[in-house]
Amino acid sequence: MTQSLTITRPDDWHLHLRDGAMLHAVLPETTRHFGRAIIMPNLVPPVVTAAQAAAYRDRIMEAMPKGAAFEPLMTLYLTEDTDPNDLAAAHASGLITSVKLYPAGATTNSASGVSNFENVRHILDRMAEIGCPLCVHGEVTDPAIDIFDREAVFIDRVLDPIRQATPGLRVVMEHITTKDGVDYVKANDQDLGATITTHHLIINRNHILVGGIKPHYYCLPVAKRESHRLALRAAATSGDARFFLGTDSAPHLDALKETACGCAGCFTATNTMSLLAHVFEEDSALDHLEAFTSLNGPSFYGLPTNPDTITLTKGGPVAFPAKLATPDGEVTVFDPGFPVHWHVT
Ligand code: DOR
Ligand code: ZN
Repeated sequence: MTQSLTITRPDDWHLHLRDGAMLHAVLPETTRHFGRAIIMPNLVPPVVTAAQAAAYRDRIMEAMPKGAAFEPLMTLYLTEDTDPNDLAAAHASGLITSVKLYPAGATTNSASGVSNFENVRHILDRMAEIGCPLCVHGEVTDPAIDIFDREAVFIDRVLDPIRQATPGLRVVMEHITTKDGVDYVKANDQDLGATITTHHLIINRNHILVGGIKPHYYCLPVAKRESHRLALRAAATSGDARFFLGTDSAPHLDALKETACGCAGCFTATNTMSLLAHVFEEDSALDHLEAFTSLNGPSFYGLPTNPDTITLTKGGPVAFPAKLATPDGEVTVFDPGFPVHWHVT
């Protein structure tokens, strides 16, 4: 039985770091294990221009723990008013790695997102031309569509038409939660990849709703039924290069989650690598953990893999902190509901 595993240092291809005091509190939780992360731009106000991305990058670098060799990979938040020249210059200079598409109103701080996809067609054409990937929050916002169907409907109504109309556009379906998402990626070519979160490999919708509502398991896209979780597990643990880790670790203060209208987001930065080792071992796929966390993402983005390694060692139960303290209150660390024995050393 494997008791110790050394892998290339992982990256997180979808991360929320926020700003200010929260940024300072959560950044060390990611830099402890990860080499790089794609930094989500859904601040208030959102990061829509190259100048705003540069300023946000500076704030992240100022908050960096001493000695950390972490590289934030910046993104722009796509709006119908995004200037394609500003975007192209930011991509050419290496300031941004990708652009994020939020359908307006789909999730936390997405109000400035895209309402009419025709209005961003010229921007997507330019991105295809320059090879800038588009990271997509794949849920429709049509109130007539059931929340558990919003990802599948998005693929048919929005994503597939965009990809047909914009050949060569490289797309990452972020945090897929359905078998429909897995199947769509598998049926398509090299220009399409998908991130999968840690928590969607562990919880299904029963975990959120059975025996009392669990606000810390609520995120968007919301976890689906068990058959979908199993499809995600199969995809993540398969080694298929089109699937890679994006934690979507999304900190919210407990007071804003444990309330009548709670925020969406699971905070998994602290324990993700231990949880993933547990999941991959359970599926007899520890030999594919490195592909999912450390190799497939860089390969999709055309970046080198990290030069160093981390080691996971199996031992007694890992004692994770239940909460992360911030000056404004606590953030609950994702609790998988079972003991985890893989320590990152
Ligand atoms: O659960 C989520 N939280 N999903 C998102 O898409 C956004 C994120 C956040 O920013 O809190
Ligand atoms: Zn996210």
